Amino acid sequence: MNVYLADPLAFPAELPNGFPTLEGEPVFDAAKHLQIEMPQTVISLQEFGYSDEDIAQCPCDFGITNVFRILSDEGAECMLKVARLLEPYVKSNARISRNVRGGAYQSKFLRDLCQSKELTETVSKICRTDLLPHTIPHQLGHLNYNPKEVGENFDKWHVDTLRIDFVMFVTDPNSVKGGEFEYHLGTKDEVAELRKAGKPLDPKKIMAPALPGPGYAVLQQGNMVVHRAKGLTEVGERITMVNGYVPRDVSFPDYTRFDQLYLVDPEHMAASEYSRYVTWMGRELLEAQLQGFEFSEDKTKMAENFEQVANMMSAAAEQLRKADEAKIEHFGDG
Ligand SMILES: [Fe+2]
Repeated sequence: MNVYLADPLAFPAELPNGFPTLEGEPVFDAAKHLQIEMPQTVISLQEFGYSDEDIAQCPCDFGITNVFRILSDEGAECMLKVARLLEPYVKSNARISRNVRGGAYQSKFLRDLCQSKELTETVSKICRTDLLPHTIPHQLGHLNYNPKEVGENFDKWHVDTLRIDFVMFVTDPNSVKGGEFEYHLGTKDEVAELRKAGKPLDPKKIMAPALPGPGYAVLQQGNMVVHRAKGLTEVGERITMVNGYVPRDVSFPDYTRFDQLYLVDPEHMAASEYSRYVTWMGRELLEAQLQGFEFSEDKTKMAENFEQVANMMSAAAEQLRKADEAKIEHFGDG
């Protein structure tokens, strides 16, 4: 049977409270604003040291790309304008000092860019698996802004709450001192062990790809690659945008850390967005079963099909119930 590919889920039609529409923003035009150049190298999860068993839980074996271009000069200018218009809505959490999440509700430019067909096709091609823009709107177009204090890291060492995302510079990385995006060429278990033992990360494994300008990015399997953004060493403006994707093959185990999202996203939205996402996956899993219908004697398989949907739903219900007990997870600054 062919792999069933999930149908996209439309962006919510209703605007939530506290997310007013931006005034005076540019209109996204893929032909003018995108200038996609494919990355030349891709580092696999094997090269990060992950086992076959770890990789089998992932939708693809891709780890991270080298730097590649997404936006044209004009696109980068527009993106910077939008990011500055969204800056008054900046929030803080235990991991990131200044960020805007949910900007895709407020900015049509950001929403259209993050959901652009051309960009999704590129990301799918790099990962060699069909993807969709993330169906949790807060996982689209996350923006990080430089902390007010020089030297303070933008973000601590961490893995993401989703599988696939790119980190794109909105400002020119070469116009500031510091502010490097860094990743650790090793597994997350290795980092957890080091942190538990109070040891720093091995500097030989810390990679800091050079970004030539705004509109350039790296794409990563964000829940498998430990990464961070270093602080600036002088006063300056540094903004990055992170956009998330989900596999269209919804039979892969979901990797959404709702407990972590619930700590950073508004209470009146986080659970609703997550529930809508889980409902969509359930619908698509059932649709896959209907489309794959055939007369058969294999009732065990039929039971397993039901269990797949029921288990996914039960795990989501447990995440919803237990989210109040969580703390923000990260691997610190060292
Ligand atoms: Fe991240």
